[in-house]
Amino acid sequence: MHVQPIDLPEMTTQVRGGKYVVRGGVTLRGAIDISGAKNHALAAMCAALLTDEDLILENVPDISDVDSLGALLVSLGAEVERLPNRAVRLNCRQVNIFEAPTDLISENRASFQVMGPLVARHGYAASAPPGGDVIGQRPIDVHLSGFEAMGARVIREGERFVATAANGLHGARVFMDYPSVSGTQNVMMAAVLARGHVTIVNAATEPEVQGLIRLLNAMGARISGSGSQILEIDGVENLHGTTSRIMPDRIETGTFAIAAVMTGGDVELRDVPTGVMDALLTKLRSAGAQIDESDGMLRVRREGPIRAVSFQALPYPGLATDLHAPMAALLTQANGVSIIHERVFDNRMLYVSELRKMGAEIVSTGSSAIVSGPTPLHGTRVRALDVRAGAAVLLAAMVAQGTTIIDDIFHLDRGYERLTEKLTALGVEVERN
Ligand code: EPU
Repeated sequence: MHVQPIDLPEMTTQVRGGKYVVRGGVTLRGAIDISGAKNHALAAMCAALLTDEDLILENVPDISDVDSLGALLVSLGAEVERLPNRAVRLNCRQVNIFEAPTDLISENRASFQVMGPLVARHGYAASAPPGGDVIGQRPIDVHLSGFEAMGARVIREGERFVATAANGLHGARVFMDYPSVSGTQNVMMAAVLARGHVTIVNAATEPEVQGLIRLLNAMGARISGSGSQILEIDGVENLHGTTSRIMPDRIETGTFAIAAVMTGGDVELRDVPTGVMDALLTKLRSAGAQIDESDGMLRVRREGPIRAVSFQALPYPGLATDLHAPMAALLTQANGVSIIHERVFDNRMLYVSELRKMGAEIVSTGSSAIVSGPTPLHGTRVRALDVRAGAAVLLAAMVAQGTTIIDDIFHLDRGYERLTEKLTALGVEVERN
């Protein structure tokens, strides 16, 4: 990101395309640092809209989703400045545009989270539905009905949703039809400035939601119940600035842990999140991994064969849907049949066709997949169809015979910081062009 004035076109034009050339047959060895969590950072950036004061976020990953959301905030009038050491300063004192430009909102899903803070603080917000990965129906009814329950009027004007609350938002009991992650964050960011008490029932409990609650409370909000499905919020008049650190990315951690197991490697992951990865680590151990956990560090290795394991992708604390595709790649190398049920999104199986091109025996039916292994994979030309489907083919390429070309790696840039550098540090022969 840039200091104001910001170069919008440069920030927002993701380099579509781009490819990785990966030579297979590697055993990952070495140590890497895990970056800040994408989905915590994006929500935290939107929280800057709730105050006139500086919000300094530390450990913000240098990924294209952060850039595109930064550009969106700048287009509303915010100052967004990258400081040394992965810190970002945001100041929204001069925000005077409350309508999100459609080309920027379509860059990523988190962008819609500007709606809650804008309507709570300025009484008006407008945005087209958000973009993001094409991983299923991604409705926003939970966000909108939450705003309505707190007194906002929400209408559809052409492609945009317009929320108005001329007299501010009021206390309410908000029931969420589904514990949506960004829905909970959006409604919560609106609720912190409501007059009175807001109860959110069936809230998402993901660590990134808990991280946002910590940040909002540090800014002066009064939210209790973090980590539970019922959040109690006492509205306050104003929030103030603060400095806060973005938690380490559990999905990046999981992706590299799976890669270590898949390649029979021995990898140390530093600055990992603690206590939030039980579902994945349990499955990896069942699959044959040895995992040592110590304060902020994970050592992941495998010597014996990989065993088949079945799993369901679920809301937290279940196994994260964002690790479904990388886990499926691993299971192509497991002995036996593994069954996967995707229970969060209805189109998260995009990776299946790409892994099949590499020789995997996977069949998908609706939101389930059956993986038979082990199957030798071979290098070929595949695509990163979304950020996590991209991670799955990258992992498969590491164990494939020969060279794999992965197209459309801009998807990987959305979520994985310094990926080439980290892969190289672990011994992967990878070239980006
Ligand atoms: N849903 C509804 N109504 C709504 C919103 C969601 O029914 O109003 C349903 C969706 O149809 C879906 C389920 O809820 O079946 C989960 O969607 P959710 O809203 O929880 O997901 P999200 O907030 O759009 C975030 C992450 C995703 C991650 C999911 C689930 C961000 C920016 N994105 O998306 O991250 O997969 O939560 O944990 O926070 C990724 O990083 O690769 C990624 C896709």
